[in-house]
Amino acid sequence: MSFGQGKIWHDGKFVDWKNATCHVMTHAIHYGSSVFEGLRCYEAKGKPAILRLRDHVRRFYDSAKIYRMEIPHAPEALEAAIIETVKVNGLKSCYIRPVAFRGMKVMGLNPRPCPVVCAVAAWSWGRYLGEESMVNGVSVRVSSWRRPAPDTFPALSKAGGNYLNSQLMKMEALDGGFDEAVALDHYGYVSEGSGENVFVVRGGEIHTPPWSSAILPGITRDCVMILAKDLGIPARETTLPREALYLADEVFLSGTAAEIVPVTRVDNIVIGSGRRGPVTERIQSAFLRIVEGRAPDKRRWLRAVVGPAQAVA
Ligand SMILES: Cc1ncc(COP(=O)(O)O)c(C=O)c1O
Repeated sequence: MSFGQGKIWHDGKFVDWKNATCHVMTHAIHYGSSVFEGLRCYEAKGKPAILRLRDHVRRFYDSAKIYRMEIPHAPEALEAAIIETVKVNGLKSCYIRPVAFRGMKVMGLNPRPCPVVCAVAAWSWGRYLGEESMVNGVSVRVSSWRRPAPDTFPALSKAGGNYLNSQLMKMEALDGGFDEAVALDHYGYVSEGSGENVFVVRGGEIHTPPWSSAILPGITRDCVMILAKDLGIPARETTLPREALYLADEVFLSGTAAEIVPVTRVDNIVIGSGRRGPVTERIQSAFLRIVEGRAPDKRRWLRAVVGPAQAVA
């Protein structure tokens, strides 16, 4: 099932993709009042399994809580809806997009009178930064756009409005011939990519910016930190100046859509050997082995999608 096909869960009912619509006066369209998640379901030993479902659902509710948005379903019901969406669409591996947004009732900046609408879509999605990106790596520019200051837009909320900043970063990078952008935070320290967290490897140690550097607390980022410990690679959160990217032995990005992607150039400066480095490769391969069911899932990161599809309210 590719983008635009199949069924979408829409507040308890499955509807055809073309019928999962909303009114032009929807609050979120005018004011960016939505929160969303991005999950991946992998084919692990031939069967679909969703990666870190509970953690994504938790972040979804956290994102909504910051904006005083009541999602009209319990987290357990949303988990079930996500599983059912994969089943109903007969998908083995896919990307899953839950979204909640302020719907149509009144216009104005008090969002509270508007009903909260919730939906879950799923479709097959290959490598976000290109099929070759996992091996050959990508080029990145440091964006002229900064991540928001801590008292402006809350970075810990995966809110639709935050992604206007990401879109400016991404378009600027593509227009300049780069694959992706990494932004600095309000203080000038390295923050994150338009849709990924960033890691620097130097002297065999991994460094990544902390929550206070205006990052989204990535779930793949958390996998990287845990896998690094498993592999005996020191990994820590540190504020990073821009030039730490240039002086790194390796740089890589992590995200649900992008997965774990080496960065071979930053601002046209070659990073390390200019190829995927050994630390990136170890982390990437440890990650892929688990999610694809080729290594034991010790921490129960994968939730199997089993049994026939059922109606979920
Ligand atoms: C801005 C931003 N940072 C980081 C990430 C990585 O988060 P995760 O690994 O949970 O997908 C994402 C992707 O959702 C993102 O959009």
